[in-house]
Amino acid sequence: MDLFEYQARDLFEAYGVPVLQGIVADTPEEVEAAAAKIGGTVVVKAQVKAGGRGKAGGVKVAHTPADAKAVSVDILNLTIKGHKVNRVMVAQGAAIDKEYYFSVLLDRSNRTFLSLCSVEGGMEIEQLAEERPDALAKIAIDAISGIDLAKALEIAKAGGFDDEIAAKVAPVFVKLYEVFVKEDATLVEVNPLILSKDGEIIALDGKVSLDDNAEFRHERENLERDQLDPLEAKAKESDLNYVKLDGSVGIIGNGAGLVMSTLDVVAYAGERHGGVKPANFLDIGGGASAEVMAAGLDVILGDPQVKSVFVNVFGGITACDAVANGIVGALAKLGSSATKPLVVRLDGNNVVEGRKILADANHPLVTVVDTMDEAADKAAELANR
Ligand SMILES: Nc1ncnc2c1ncn2[C@@H]1O[C@H](COP(=O)(O)OP(=O)(O)O)[C@@H](O)[C@H]1O
Ligand SMILES: [Mg+2]
Repeated sequence: MDLFEYQARDLFEAYGVPVLQGIVADTPEEVEAAAAKIGGTVVVKAQVKAGGRGKAGGVKVAHTPADAKAVSVDILNLTIKGHKVNRVMVAQGAAIDKEYYFSVLLDRSNRTFLSLCSVEGGMEIEQLAEERPDALAKIAIDAISGIDLAKALEIAKAGGFDDEIAAKVAPVFVKLYEVFVKEDATLVEVNPLILSKDGEIIALDGKVSLDDNAEFRHERENLERDQLDPLEAKAKESDLNYVKLDGSVGIIGNGAGLVMSTLDVVAYAGERHGGVKPANFLDIGGGASAEVMAAGLDVILGDPQVKSVFVNVFGGITACDAVANGIVGALAKLGSSATKPLVVRLDGNNVVEGRKILADANHPLVTVVDTMDEAADKAAELANR
């Protein structure tokens, strides 16, 4: 589970990581009140689970509460990388001298933790890694010894900090590592970590991903409740494994591996059709009953970005005829709320019966295509119309 910036800020604060005041607000009126409460210059920040909010116009400075209210009207109307902005955080404004980068993450390929650090923060890390790879230190972290003060100093030095600033950032690194371990995170990233004009080190932006497999060890319903993306919330209610992406071809499949490769073939086919991309990841799992299929279709059709849907099912324990009945049943259930074309590819157990059921139903929205590549191409073409 990825956290919103304001949730990361609250976690940081609880662990003694220096942060600035921040108040969440869902309406321009609440923004004005929050700005008045904080006083002075504030920064209104879109709360979406995507990076690069600054560049997208989702981070704006305001000098008065009226100003803050005015800029929030624009920000609350934004959609950033496919994520509609429903909430902002009004943050105390910082006088920035320098912007740094620090993160600690799970390095699966090396079976260890990894810390990334640079005195050149602020820009997106992918860009820094590409343009100035030498400026980005990568230090393996032993899971047993972790990041103590000595390790933190080593990381800071490797990241290019001079002795004076290294001594200031190192204790903050230690605390951020504590957040990482105690909260069972897979990523804790601060970009930028700043040096203020007053010489203070402050975490100005925070990105935290928590390990869902360790959730049973924590009590944090409040984080769950605040997951604002309505599509993801709806999917969660139906126990569907759904991730919203920034494209226009809705995807439903059974099995995570098949869905992942479906995303790839659609992205590839999309290159021939105006650059359309997959709109989501949705794995309906083994039992593709009419209810599960209807719940999945309902979530995907509720995404205004979606122009076509690709249903890619390989019949295994749940045979293709059951899935085909699921699709027909789901369309009947959704009735007039199903409005977008569906491309269906069925294969595997009982495929002949499955295709026959779809052919007999002869639903005007459904096109049955034999192979995955052809289906991806068709779905991309329909999304590009
Ligand atoms: N509270 C703040 N005070 C002053 N400047 C800020 C504040 N928060 C963010 N900024 C500036 O905006 C930039 C982008 O904000 P950030 O929170 O990093 O969002 P994102 O990484 O999504 O673009 C930062 O690099 C910083 O320069
Ligand atoms: Mg940032």
